[in-house]
This record gives sequence, C-alpha cells and structure tokens, in this order.
Amino acid sequence: MERVSGPVLGLESSCDETAAAVLAPDGTILAEALLTQLAEHARFGGVVPEVAARSHLVHLPLLAERVLEQAGVAPAALGGVAATSGPGLIGGLVVGASLGKGIALAHGLPFVAVNHLEAHALTPRLPGLLPEAPAFPYLLLLLSGGHCQCVAVEGLGRYRRLGTTLDDAVGEAFDKAAKLLGLPWPGGPHLERLAAAGDPRRIPLPRPLLGREGCDFSFSGLKTAVAHAVTKLTDEAGKADIAAAFQASVSAVMADRARHALAMMTGATALVVSGGVAANGGVRTALAGVAEAAGLPLIAPPIRLCTDNAVMVAWAGIERLRAGLADPVDHAPRPRWPLAELAGPDAEAA
Ligand code: KG4
Ligand code: ZN
Repeated sequence: MERVSGPVLGLESSCDETAAAVLAPDGTILAEALLTQLAEHARFGGVVPEVAARSHLVHLPLLAERVLEQAGVAPAALGGVAATSGPGLIGGLVVGASLGKGIALAHGLPFVAVNHLEAHALTPRLPGLLPEAPAFPYLLLLLSGGHCQCVAVEGLGRYRRLGTTLDDAVGEAFDKAAKLLGLPWPGGPHLERLAAAGDPRRIPLPRPLLGREGCDFSFSGLKTAVAHAVTKLTDEAGKADIAAAFQASVSAVMADRARHALAMMTGATALVVSGGVAANGGVRTALAGVAEAAGLPLIAPPIRLCTDNAVMVAWAGIERLRAGLADPVDHAPRPRWPLAELAGPDAEAA
C-alpha cells in the first residue's frame, strides 16, 4: 500500500449535485460542501443537462475553494485530486474533471479519474462510518434516480454486476409514479409520505419479475399499471392507496431481487444499500428482512453519503492512490463507464 502524502480533494459534478470535499489521508472528513440544483431543474420536471453543466461551471470552483479554506489546506499541500469522470452527464463531467486536472497540474499532484459507481460502492468502507468496514465481498444495491443495480463488490476495482434494470431506474419509477399521482418532482419522498396514509391492499399493483431467475429489475409495467389505476380513481383518497400499493410492490420486488443476488455470490459479508431510494422506509424494511434471514448486516450509509456527494469521490480517490492507481491527466471523461471495465491493483500488476 502506498502512502498518500496529504489530504485529498474530491469533486462531484456528474448529475445535478455540485459538491467538493477534503479528506485526510486516513479518510477523516476535513470539510465538505454540496449544492443541489433541484430548484433549477424542478420547473422542467427533470434534470436538463445543459442547465446542469452551466451551474457546475459557476459553482464548483467556488465550492472547491471553500472546502480547502475550511480544511485549512493549501492546494500545494494536497496529496491528490479526485474528480468524478463518469458515468454521468458529459457536460458536468468535463467541468469537474477539468477543474481537478487543472489543480493537479498546477501543483504537481496525482489525479484520480473516479468512477461514480465505484465511489458509491466503496462508501461503506469510509473510516468512522461503521465500527468496522465491511470486508470484501459484499452485495451493493445501488438504488437511485439514474442507477438500479445489484453489484458484487469483490475488491477495489473488482465489481461484478449481477443484475440491473431492463427499463427505468427505481428512483425514476418513483418519480414517474409520483407525477401520475400529481406530486411534485422529484417525487420519491412525496410518494412515501402519501403512501403512509394509504392501504396497500385496496388497489393491488403488479410486482414485475418477482420470483424470476436472476436479479434484474423492470418498472415500466408497474408505471403503466399506476397510470391505469389513476384513470379509474373515483376519489382523492384512492391516490394514497395507489402510492401505498406502489411502494409495497417496489419493496417486495427489491427484497426478492436482493435475495437472488445474494444467492449469486459466495461469502457475502454484508448487504449494502445506497442511492436516494435507500431513504425509503418501505424499501429499507424489506431489505432488512432479507439481510436478517441471511444472517448479514444491512448497511445503509447516512443519507447524505447515500445520495451524490464529494466525500465518496475523495474516499475512492484515497483508496486508488493507496493502491498506486493514479490516472494520467489526459484521461477522457466517460458518460458511459460500466463498473466491469474498471481495473484494480491485481489487474494492474498482471
Ligand atoms: O441518489 P440520488 O439522490 O441521485 C440521483 O439519482 O441523481 O437519487 C434520487 C432519487 C430520486 O428519483 C428520488 O425520487 C429518489 O431518489 N428518492 C426516493 C426517496 N428519497 C429520494 N424514492 C423513494 N422514497 C424516498 N424517500
Ligand atoms: Zn450517484
């Protein structure tokens, strides 16, 4: 393991969160800052890539400056710069990666082009988060607005995608169902609140792929069923019942897929859930049941580290720098960058 010579600056700009963080070489968080662009995109009902890129361009350099100041670290004293370089919206990736490379070049620092999915995958290993970091391998369920995957995390740079969505990501499904119910975007949290007042059994909804082999997901049929149920509503109260049935359906499917994913791995030490949908109580309870039945801990990082953030990017940078895996500054950001294409220390040595 190589020594990281100073604190690491992490930059995140792959979607609609602008974030910067400084972590000490041992992973202690020295400073973190995050700006969400929700308000800028809300009137469009979704993330507009050009709006996102321009906003990152305005805010990211200021956030980077602010966290360095808060951490009391001069750029020249950094041990490295880590910037999300994919997958994501290319405009934002270019902004973050270019800023990161600029700082690294100006001060002769190593640069790490971080894969955003790897950053989510390594978050539970962040020191101080849990009494003990989960040992490899563990199962990661990445459940966000853009991603919906079951991943076997076998080591740094070693990931096996066991299953993914055939259509919408689960957060996207929540947002679309919420929109059909007349709720504001992003609808996941609103739908959860509405569901609390409903009866999940009054208007049953399908549970796509439940019991099917493997651990893929599909949500488009469920969305269509919600649309159909909404047209047949005779009273406002029925909306809560649809929300409750939707959440129950997603939770049941999630538990089933997680069970299958665990069966596709050997020696999993934990079930880790991350992404914005990890905030959902119904989904968490369902996954807790699966973990308990398998005799494994369910690890859900605090929500601010589950959703997009720069702490996880800096941490992934530290893990990679420790393994001697810095990247050249001509590394090109990649809008598509599957986890399977990453290399770990072993592959590097081979
Ligand atoms: O990880 P995340 O913040 O970022 C992106 O995917 O960009 O995930 C956002 C997604 C949205 O689709 C949002 O509706 C969903 O997570 N979400 C929830 C809840 N909180 C956020 N879905 C269901 N229940 C929640 N409580
Ligand atoms: Zn993310």
